[in-house]
Order: sequence, then C-alpha cells, then structure tokens
Amino acid sequence: MNTILVGAQWGDEGKGKIIDVLTEQADVVVRYAGGNNAGHTVFIGKNKYVLHLVPSGILRPKKLCVIGNGVVVDPVGLVEEINGLKKLGVKVGANNFVLSETAHVVLPYHRELDAQREVLKGKNKIGTTKRGIGPAYGDKAARVGLRVNDLVDSARLEQKLSLRIKENNAVLKSLGARPLSFPQVFADYNAAGKFLKPFVQNTVVLLHEQMRAGAAMLFEGAQGTFLDIDHGTYPFVTSSNTTAGGACTGSGVPPHRMDRVVGVMKAYTTRVGEGPLPTENAEISDLLHGMGREFGATTGRPRRCGWFDSVATRHATMVNGIDDLAITNLDGLDTVVSIKVCVAYRHGRKQYDYVPNDAQILAECEPVYVEFDGWRTPTDKAKSWKQLPTKARTYLKAIAELSNAKLFIASVGPSRDQTIFV
Ligand code: GDP
Ligand code: IMO
Ligand code: MG
Repeated sequence: MNTILVGAQWGDEGKGKIIDVLTEQADVVVRYAGGNNAGHTVFIGKNKYVLHLVPSGILRPKKLCVIGNGVVVDPVGLVEEINGLKKLGVKVGANNFVLSETAHVVLPYHRELDAQREVLKGKNKIGTTKRGIGPAYGDKAARVGLRVNDLVDSARLEQKLSLRIKENNAVLKSLGARPLSFPQVFADYNAAGKFLKPFVQNTVVLLHEQMRAGAAMLFEGAQGTFLDIDHGTYPFVTSSNTTAGGACTGSGVPPHRMDRVVGVMKAYTTRVGEGPLPTENAEISDLLHGMGREFGATTGRPRRCGWFDSVATRHATMVNGIDDLAITNLDGLDTVVSIKVCVAYRHGRKQYDYVPNDAQILAECEPVYVEFDGWRTPTDKAKSWKQLPTKARTYLKAIAELSNAKLFIASVGPSRDQTIFV
C-alpha cells in the first residue's frame, strides 16, 4: 500500500502529526517536494519536534526515511537538523535516512536573491520564508543548479560553485546587495557535503527495490494545494508541485503504483504569507492567536486565520484525487458559538463553486457561508468518534461531505493519542 499525503489548504494543515501517526503502519516515508520552507510539528509526549527537511517518519524507529529528487536541500540546514534531532535522542543514520543524489542544492545566493526579490516587489511581495526556495527551483528549471552529487564531490563543487557565485555576485551587486565570498561558501558547503555523503544514494533505485520487497510507503507532502506552483494562487505560491502528482515526479515512483491519497485539512483555514484567503476573519484569528496557536513553525509569523473553505478543499480533492481526509485542529473551534463554512464564492454577479485561477479575482471574491451550531465542549480528551459531541460529529461529517472525500481521521490535539480513526 503506497499512500500520498498532501495538504489540502495553504500549508500547515497538520501533515507532520498525521504522517507520524500513519508511519506506524508504513516501512518507508518519502519527502518529495519543497525544502526547508516546510515546518512539520510533531509532539511525542511532552517533546516537540519541528522537521524541515527530514521526513517526519524519522521519529519512529526502524522506518526508512528518504528525501527524494523533487526536494531542494539546504545542506547546511540539513546538517543542523540532523544534529538537532540526534541531540533530542532521535537516531539518524545511513540505515534509516537517505538523501537523493539528484535533489537540488539550495545555496546562499538563492537565499540572498529570495530576500532581494521580495524587497523589489515591495507591497506586492509573496511573503516567502526567505529560505531561497524560489531561486533554487528557478536554477533547476534553468539547468544551472547544483545537485547533491555535485555537493559531495569536492572538485566538482569547487568548479561549479565558483562559476555560479561569479554570475550570482554580479546580480547581487546590481541589486545593491553584498557579494558572497567564494572561499567561505565553498568551505561551509564542502563540509556539509562531507557530512552528508554517507546518506547519499540513487533513491529511485532504492525505492523500487523497497517496492519489490513489499514495503508500504508513505509520501510526505510539504506545503499545501494552494501553494502549488501550477494549481495554487500564483504568484502567491511556493515553487514546487505540492499536489499529489509531485509525489511521482519527486520520487520516481510511477502513478500506477500509488494506491491512495490522504488529504490533511484543518477544521478551519490558515495561511502564512501574502495572497488571497477568501474566508479570512479577524475574530477567528484573534481567538486562535489568543490561545497561543497558529504561529508559523518555520518563521514564527502569525498565521492568517479564517473559516473552513469547502470551495477550496473540494477543489483540492479534485486536483489531488483525495480519497480520505484527516481533519485536524477540531479542538480549535471548541468555544465558538456559531461556526461558518464557506460553500461558494460570489464575485459580482458570478458565483463560483471552484477556485478561480486568477489570484486577483479570488482576492475580490466574497464567501457565501452556511452556519453550524458550535458544540462548546472541550474535544481534546475524546478518544473515539462516540466520545465527540454530536454537534462536532455533524460538523466533521458536513465538511468532509462538502470536500467530496471520506472522513478518515479527526484530530483533537497535537499528540499521537489525540487521534480518532473514524
Ligand atoms: P504541517 O506543516 O502541515 O506539518 O503543520 P504545522 O506543524 O506547521 O502546523 C500544525 C500545527 O497544529 C502544529 O503546531 C501541530 O502541533 C498542531 N496540531 C496538529 N493537529 C492538531 C490538533 O488536532 N489539535 C491541535 N490543538 N493542534 C494540532
Ligand atoms: P508546510 O510544509 C505554510 C508559503 C510562504 C509564502 C509562500 C512562498 O509547513 O505546510 P517560499 O518560501 O516557499 O518561497 O514561500 O509559501 N509557505 C508555506 N506556508 N506552510 C508551509 O510549509 C510553507 N512553505 C512555504 O509563507 O507564502
Ligand atoms: Mg508547517
């Protein structure tokens, strides 16, 4: 059984938590897109882990975790992340962690260009994580990127990096930014390459060997459907295919070997960064921030919050082929008296039941809401479907049905044991 797990909204749906739960039944967990712009939070007991590049499956022993070819890897960040995990007692070794030799490398000029382009955009900025993701994928598409197999070969790294730094320094200078020092960057990245070398493999061959041996694989999506470079609210998106198709291109596992798609969504909506968010609402933002929730796992920025948007999640089901839904953060709505759900968008005299492609039109859309009675009871201790308040069950069933997929998991807290299989 091979399962693709995707975010069905604008990222931060709780993918990390659900991956951790589902990893119990899996043998291999594969990250297939994005970079360390992702922040996947997992709580085990009182310990909090935030994974940026390493698949969240690493927190369960004896699971093989793979960074696929579709990911862009900041090697210095990855070394820090591995060392941080080891300090917390997590075992990361060549027997449970593998890095694709064809994943692209994020370099300091990518981060610098990301920051400079945001400045140039002024009030039209994307609100990126400034991790260099856009410029790194840009170089990949322009065929001037460095890949992991370049990074781990000192001579090749020296040769390719010196050329790339020369070109990028010219651009940085023209933007008024400080040029990079080649010897410094080479020293830092060569050291990271040496550290990472034992983990590097041909992951396409490895994954196919695993499949032949009958392994159950879990494909860990990063970001969310509406941050997808093709299907998201362009240009307010990230630079990879975050949707289910990305799992195939980003891993080398073909479509007919994928068995199901799980969509993760919050019981409400959040977005971090700029761009349209039709159901954005100050009341629910204040409520969630007041509870100390909804601050970005990577940048710490407060997330913008809004009511559940079933137009968006229905669209996500269509684009990803979502079979099963994991709905997280139900407990965030425990105190709300009347809960709104968006069922259509109104734009002038036109009504949309899908997400319009034009970000400008989407920004002008007014949500059409239906309302549900709040349950006004804590749900975080519920251990089974039956223990959930009736009104919470009604709400969950309704938003799953509106999203056109089957309710599979209801999550009522950040921990493993706050997970209800429906
Ligand atoms: P990801 O990027 O999709 O993995 O999500 P993040 O980790 O960035 O953000 C989701 C946040 O919600 C994290 O802080 C999780 O610990 C938390 N979380 C996940 N599921 C639940 C839930 O059901 N209830 C509560 N209270 N928190 C949850
Ligand atoms: P996870 O995997 C939420 C957003 C940024 C910005 C846009 C582009 O934790 O769900 P980028 O740095 O990728 O160029 O930024 O995408 N973004 C995310 N938002 N969760 C994420 O990852 C995100 N990764 C990128 O905030 O709006
Ligand atoms: Mg996140």
